[in-house]
Amino acid sequence: MMRHLLSTRDLSLDDALLVLDTAEYMATVADRSVKKLPTLRGRTVVNLFFEDSTRTRTSFELAAKRLSADVINFSVRGSSVSKGESLKDTAQTLEAMGADAVVCRHPASGAPHRLAAWVRGSVLNAGDGIHEHPTQALLDAFTIRRRLGRIEGLSVTIVGDVLHSRVARSNVWLLSTLGAAVTVVAPPTLVPVGVEQWPVTVSYDLDAVLPGSDVVMMLRVQRERMTAAFFPTEREYARRYGLDADRLAAMPLSALVMHPGPMVRGMEIASDVADSTRSTVVEQVANGVSVRMAVLYLLLGGTREVP
Ligand code: CP
Repeated sequence: MMRHLLSTRDLSLDDALLVLDTAEYMATVADRSVKKLPTLRGRTVVNLFFEDSTRTRTSFELAAKRLSADVINFSVRGSSVSKGESLKDTAQTLEAMGADAVVCRHPASGAPHRLAAWVRGSVLNAGDGIHEHPTQALLDAFTIRRRLGRIEGLSVTIVGDVLHSRVARSNVWLLSTLGAAVTVVAPPTLVPVGVEQWPVTVSYDLDAVLPGSDVVMMLRVQRERMTAAFFPTEREYARRYGLDADRLAAMPLSALVMHPGPMVRGMEIASDVADSTRSTVVEQVANGVSVRMAVLYLLLGGTREVP
């Protein structure tokens, strides 16, 4: 296993499967009355979040605590970053306090890569700009494999604001490595330049793709990253690219609806679809803890044999 987890693009099939298999074991810990392993006792994990997060930050914190690590939560608000301290100085300050792993979310694509060159501990990318969000893709893959029993040979459709989505990028690389056929569906304005280099099929017609999809992964429309008008109105976007009850009915009965959260209900996904039994949204959050336990365990020196 590598020292850092910065992207899924450079994750080998063996390492991806090792994470998923280890996460299966970690999931059994959640079923115990004492939900803790002593594995990372004496190790320190720093959550370094320069961007807002609900799921990822709390999930990494819970994962580290379930492995008995000490956890430091660092957010920009209230720190010396507001006085102009650089990422490098911040990281080295935290490392001087003994961080074995730094979990980093940053609005700039590539920030965790820079960090990895400056610290001795492991760096885990918790989402960098529009680049990657590897643990989200790993928990999505884990959820698909648990629900459908496999990933290889499945048709996975990723729908929406692909241009600004690090979740889409990480899923494209990981699911392709795991043998899925990935289609991205978006308005032409939200398809990234260079998508022809990705291992995907591109479609602009959601209704044409849904009947052949085993998994439909909806993406949030990332207003905060948009610097121009990418579609006429929210209503028009929802009409062409939103997943509503009629579109759910057009999917195979066994097909899953996924969303990484946070969801914009009524825009990319209708409320009744988000809350339906076909939706894995809440399951994805629960699985995130198991997957992040697995990643922390493996990066901090764990072996295939979990104690
Ligand atoms: N899916 C995800 O990254 O959610 P948060 O922004 O709440 O961490």
